Amino acid sequence: MLAIIGGSGLTQLANLDVSHREVVRTPYGEPSGPITFGQICGSPAVFLARHGYGHTIPPHEVNYRANLWALSKCGALGIVSVASVGSIRADLKPGDVVVPHQIIDYTWGRKATFHEGPDCKVTHIDFTDPYDKILRQKLLDAAGVVGIAVTASSVYAATQGPRLETAAEIDRLERDGADVVGMTGMPEAVLARELDIPYAAINLVVNYAAGRADSRDGISFEAIESVLHQSMVGVRAIIEQVVGCNALGGASS
Ligand code: HPA
Repeated sequence: MLAIIGGSGLTQLANLDVSHREVVRTPYGEPSGPITFGQICGSPAVFLARHGYGHTIPPHEVNYRANLWALSKCGALGIVSVASVGSIRADLKPGDVVVPHQIIDYTWGRKATFHEGPDCKVTHIDFTDPYDKILRQKLLDAAGVVGIAVTASSVYAATQGPRLETAAEIDRLERDGADVVGMTGMPEAVLARELDIPYAAINLVVNYAAGRADSRDGISFEAIESVLHQSMVGVRAIIEQVVGCNALGGASS
């Protein structure tokens, strides 16, 4: 069964035929909200709104460990993370959809591992490829089927937030090799890896990053809202396709 973590602009999945919601208790505290169970095109899926169903939890206060642990407990065999991003690259414009292949992590002070505590052995995990290749390919294939153009190769920079970046910080991220910037991709991706759950992301570009193009003199939140409103429909179509056609999403699994 696939799990979808929805970000800004995706606090519920309109195409999810909801069967029930479950409050999951975890050793790490409260997840962002109850887990929503349902079906998309007859295939089971679970959904969690990363920022809470009322969009009240900022990126640095999301309990990523509780969220990932809860989804694992609910039987998630794959996780598709949906998040909005700013574009650092001139050729990625608001409304574009990106399936990133790499991450640079600039976050700090977040609980970023399950492998800690007095009785826990020191554990390192391989994170060379932070996203699951097979699930990424399924997202790309699904986008192709529903006719949504996606950029299949991009480096995601995870910043701390909740403030947006300065123009100089964006210049630095570009020098580092980042293409898009968001605030929630880490530690979500690494926690999924620690739990051995395939994880991939769909990023919707909602603005040019600070200092770039029409964000040269500032970022317009009205414009972000409008892109979220108009372009999330494509992201929903990809999700519907990937859950419906995904072997992990099949009714028998
Ligand atoms: N920066 C960081 N996170 C974001 C942005 C941005 O410009 N846009 C959407 N999420």
